[in-house]
Amino acid sequence: MSTRADTAAELFTETFGRAPDGVFSAPGRVNVIGEHTDYNDGFVLPMALPHAVTVAAGRRVGPRVRVLSRQQPGAPESLDLGAEPGAVTGWPAYVAGVVWSLRTHGFDLGGVDLVVDGDVPAGAGLSSSAALECAVASALADLFGIAAGPAELARLAQRAENDFVGMPCGVMDQMASMTCTAGHLLFLDTRSLGTEQVAFAPAAHGRTLLVVDTRAPHRLVDGEYADRRRACEKAASALGVRALRDFTTDTLPDVLSRLDGESQRRRVRHVVTENERVSRVVARLRAGELDAVGPLLTESHTSLRDDYEVTVPELDTAVDTALEAGALGARMTGGGFGGCVIALVPTDRADAVREAVR
Ligand code: GLA
Repeated sequence: MSTRADTAAELFTETFGRAPDGVFSAPGRVNVIGEHTDYNDGFVLPMALPHAVTVAAGRRVGPRVRVLSRQQPGAPESLDLGAEPGAVTGWPAYVAGVVWSLRTHGFDLGGVDLVVDGDVPAGAGLSSSAALECAVASALADLFGIAAGPAELARLAQRAENDFVGMPCGVMDQMASMTCTAGHLLFLDTRSLGTEQVAFAPAAHGRTLLVVDTRAPHRLVDGEYADRRRACEKAASALGVRALRDFTTDTLPDVLSRLDGESQRRRVRHVVTENERVSRVVARLRAGELDAVGPLLTESHTSLRDDYEVTVPELDTAVDTALEAGALGARMTGGGFGGCVIALVPTDRADAVREAVR
């Protein structure tokens, strides 16, 4: 059986008439808890998926980047190595954005040919774009001898998405794609980029973490996301702190009393309580109390639904149905407005939960 790396390398050779210099891969992610906290300098707890984006890459002479996706057959796109924000649209913008981000950061890149192959579902909130950015960043770093560690490459990939593609995301997805390890959740402090790998082995406890793609299309996602981010930044500045991460639930009543307007209070309450839920989940996992994580997942969903208002009926229905069918906890995951939910279930209930949700 040929692997995805073989397939990408073969398509590279067919397309460009030589073997690639290397093949690189980066996974999609699912976030277990800590939603809409990363752009507030807060805490997140994602894990890598087995689904990944693979890139076969080879240096070429001349200032162009040629890129072909196995999922979009046809002729390769030929991009200018010096392409500026706005010059490239569609999925190649993620590739051009990483090139731009590395170059404008001062790294010296030459021309390059790339073949992209991936199985992270697009538009499901599983970070297919971060996986693409991180696979390309890893390829370029290796091919051009760039001395940057995984966290620096993650920051540069995030910058590609923020300033080239125009999506004001936080750093969770790129850090997850670059630094998650098998059998662990990544406990990430998005302010310091400090990480801890937290062992996660639900099967050993007779538990399964289901990832359910509701297939609800992301609606209004970019505008609403940017709007939430702005609301948080505005609240932090009104309250005189660098980011909402600087508050804890102990002082929450006082903090809320200093804000104008119910909507702003709800947004802040979500972020502050969600940060605390991440720490509580990590504590429960360290203590080997996996089932105690369930209610915290469900609390997170309620907060995202009622306070942060980023769920849609499909996500709420999938969560409610999973709980009724025996899940220990369930929540939407990712940015919201469509996409996936996760459910922690006793393994012997997994089929029943899956069927009920279906
Ligand atoms: C999207 C963004 C992330 C993060 C999540 C919400 O996935 O890309 O940076 O903000 O939404 O937690």
